[in-house]
Amino acid sequence: MNVLITGGAGFIGSHVADHLLTMGCRVHVLDNFHTNYSREQKLRNIHQSLGHPAYFLHEGDIRDAPYLTHVFRQGQFDVVIHLAALPGVQASLQRPDVYADVNLNGTRTLLNAMHQSGVRKLIFGSSSSVYGDHPAMPLQEDCQHLFPISPYALTKYKGEQLCRHYHQQYGIESTCLRFFTVYGPRQRPDMAIYQFLEAIRQQHQLTLYGKGTSRDYTFVADIVQGISKAMFRIDGFSIYNIGSGSYISLRQLITLMEDVTNQKARIIQRPDRPGDVAHTWADLTRSKQKLAYQPTTSLSEGLQQMADWLASRNAQAALSRC
Ligand SMILES: NC(=O)c1ccc[n+]([C@@H]2O[C@H](COP(=O)([O-])OP(=O)(O)OC[C@H]3O[C@@H](n4cnc5c(N)ncnc54)[C@H](O)[C@@H]3O)[C@@H](O)[C@H]2O)c1
Repeated sequence: MNVLITGGAGFIGSHVADHLLTMGCRVHVLDNFHTNYSREQKLRNIHQSLGHPAYFLHEGDIRDAPYLTHVFRQGQFDVVIHLAALPGVQASLQRPDVYADVNLNGTRTLLNAMHQSGVRKLIFGSSSSVYGDHPAMPLQEDCQHLFPISPYALTKYKGEQLCRHYHQQYGIESTCLRFFTVYGPRQRPDMAIYQFLEAIRQQHQLTLYGKGTSRDYTFVADIVQGISKAMFRIDGFSIYNIGSGSYISLRQLITLMEDVTNQKARIIQRPDRPGDVAHTWADLTRSKQKLAYQPTTSLSEGLQQMADWLASRNAQAALSRC
């Protein structure tokens, strides 16, 4: 199978690429190494795959239509896994226009390129943030009235609608996967679990926003499992939650991190921030039934793997400074 992964040098995309190579796929990655975090971290993400004979890296922008035409001439892609985006709720509040440009114009340009080159199947990396502060828990894919409360969430909601439109108009079959807060090795440095674990390890203060918040946290290997199962079952237009199916409060999360690191957290409590939803919790009924998706990594196992990754990465960085 020939696969194009946009955003494939990022956190989730690089894990997907590694996994698809082990499944025998030819993997093309399109990424512009956006400066939302360091190019070095993204190069480390893809370091191993780069040497694989079935791995092809295209450095470019999903908004660049002529470049996309060039990339789509390189391989007869059976499926596109579209993960390139500007992620993160808080940064989107500062730069809503840039988020709309990358996440929406980028998605539209990609869909046009698929249409023009005859590629028919797409996985779209959507987000639990599309639900906003929805009152009905657990969150179901077909719940009425979504309430995205940040520019980022809005781009994901509209991205799903674009996929639906290209399905109706041009027959491009799309599966939108709503990921619930993803964590694990290679996580983006702006994300809470990364920042909390680093703060606890280094005995720095960490800031908790909002007292009563809780989240469904999903280990990255489970997200990869969801994507790789979904890519063989793309049929028409559909939406699935990909989460852990459970939730935990921020305070309980910190306690688990203290157990994993054997260190005490030094917490500063601050009020809620605009754009952050209070609760997320994925209903997995549909993804279990239709995709045979089954998350397998407990939060404590996943946090341990993430803490080990941070420790070994920091040890390597210290060695290279000597
Ligand atoms: N991490 C999460 O918790 C989470 C949750 C829900 C949804 N998602 C979605 O999953 C996808 C991957 O997220 P991630 O956490 O791996 O983020 P990431 O930032 O690590 O990966 C995104 C990649 O896209 C690339 N990119 C950005 N703009 C681009 C452009 N214009 N052209 C080409 N490449 C571009 C970046 O360089 C980066 O490598 C995103 O679409 C994100 O919205 C992530």
